[in-house]
Amino acid sequence: MALLETKEFVNCYRIEGAPDKLNEALLRMAASFAVSDAKMREIIDRFHQSMRDGLNGDEAGMPMIPSFIDRRPTGNEQGKFLSLDLGGTNLRVCQVTLLGKSDFHMVQQKFTIPAEAKERTLFDWIAQCVSIFVEEHDVEPNPGEYSINCGFTFSFPINQTGLAEGNLIMWNKGFLVPNSVGRDVVRLTQDAFLRKHLRVRIVAILNDTVGALMTSCYSNPDSQLGIIFGTGTNACYWERLSNIGKWAGPKEGEMVINTEWGAFDNAIEVLPYTMHDNKLNRKSPNHGLQVFEKMISGMYLGEVARNALLYLVDQRLLFDGRSSPIFNKSYAFDTAYMSEIVSDDSPDLTEVRKVFEQTLEIPSPTLLDCKVAKAVCDMIGTRAMRLSAASMAAVLLWRPEMLKGTVTVGIDGSMYQFYPSFDKALYDNCRPFLGDDFVDNKLKLRLAKDGSGVGAAIIAAVASKHLQ
Ligand code: BGC
Repeated sequence: MALLETKEFVNCYRIEGAPDKLNEALLRMAASFAVSDAKMREIIDRFHQSMRDGLNGDEAGMPMIPSFIDRRPTGNEQGKFLSLDLGGTNLRVCQVTLLGKSDFHMVQQKFTIPAEAKERTLFDWIAQCVSIFVEEHDVEPNPGEYSINCGFTFSFPINQTGLAEGNLIMWNKGFLVPNSVGRDVVRLTQDAFLRKHLRVRIVAILNDTVGALMTSCYSNPDSQLGIIFGTGTNACYWERLSNIGKWAGPKEGEMVINTEWGAFDNAIEVLPYTMHDNKLNRKSPNHGLQVFEKMISGMYLGEVARNALLYLVDQRLLFDGRSSPIFNKSYAFDTAYMSEIVSDDSPDLTEVRKVFEQTLEIPSPTLLDCKVAKAVCDMIGTRAMRLSAASMAAVLLWRPEMLKGTVTVGIDGSMYQFYPSFDKALYDNCRPFLGDDFVDNKLKLRLAKDGSGVGAAIIAAVASKHLQ
């Protein structure tokens, strides 16, 4: 649904037969979450300003980090590589065999990151997982080489100083490993490998968006953007070197820039920020940072919705003013529940009731309660999708010459894969800015499945060639 006016959006949420007081509260809430086309345009303009500033060294808006990747994959890269993919929830260790002709084979093992690793022992824990994988899968260095070459996808912001070096800017997604901010994460990981006597050498480090873009380029050379809409959110794209004012190297050709768009508008000058966002932000360990990410990504959306629902509970407009010990806990309302709720079209909202009554132990929710809860989740999810579309459109419009031909965008992440209609909403909400012809005929949004694992192997292949 492309929404032009806030009024149109707000009126969708009026519930027939509900008390006036409830409808008034609901419509007020919908107005606060609305993103009109005019607002999207304002966001796109501010995005361009932040991109320009970031490329020229003023990183207060968006970091715009050079990735040191200046060559597009050809699809013919070959060889066997280890790749690590450290995300917000899991570490995936993979052995990727690039077969050329855009084809690959992958064996992988997923390790859920324990709280202790997120807060303290991360690098030794990674080494432990790699050691288990290497042993279980008999991974050996390639003939004639001493160590196993490894590409490392790292889903946190780092200031890259080379293809295989980068200093951590900050943690997010609930991580807080001491003594690591400002330090080279490749060194920290490599040291942990040494302590375990692991013959694994990290030859490249890359952001997960870069992994998605590389994977997409491996099969679609016209890929211009890599995006993650998952636990966190971010995008990278091919930029002309001559446009990167802060880049001291050669100015000819292109380089992938990691935008770190989750940091967009931390000063909250244009974003439609509500009291419910503020409640989340105030209590979060990275308070005041990644504000845009907190409005659209899977780690946070459920919590924004929980805050908004509790606001109605506190006014006795929902669940008869009652919550439950489970629902009172921060982050108890997983974004996956929102997906279930907004996709329930049954007349008596069976799934919605199940989530609240059985999972969250709210006593006897009524049908009206379920309708209200569904409306609240929907307005927050819709805002997320409109903001996501605005940011994608902004990056595409940044290089208008790209829009002449077909543009493939490689996307990965749980929101993109599992939130109902996310993909369709990206296309639809971009129309007013990119035009119907472009959206219908030239824009190709593609799932870059396992992008982080494969992308890291592709970059490792390129890097190992350099090293030889
Ligand atoms: C991180 C990015 C990452 C994104 C998606 C954000 O929290 O800052 O580096 O690309 O999440 O995983």
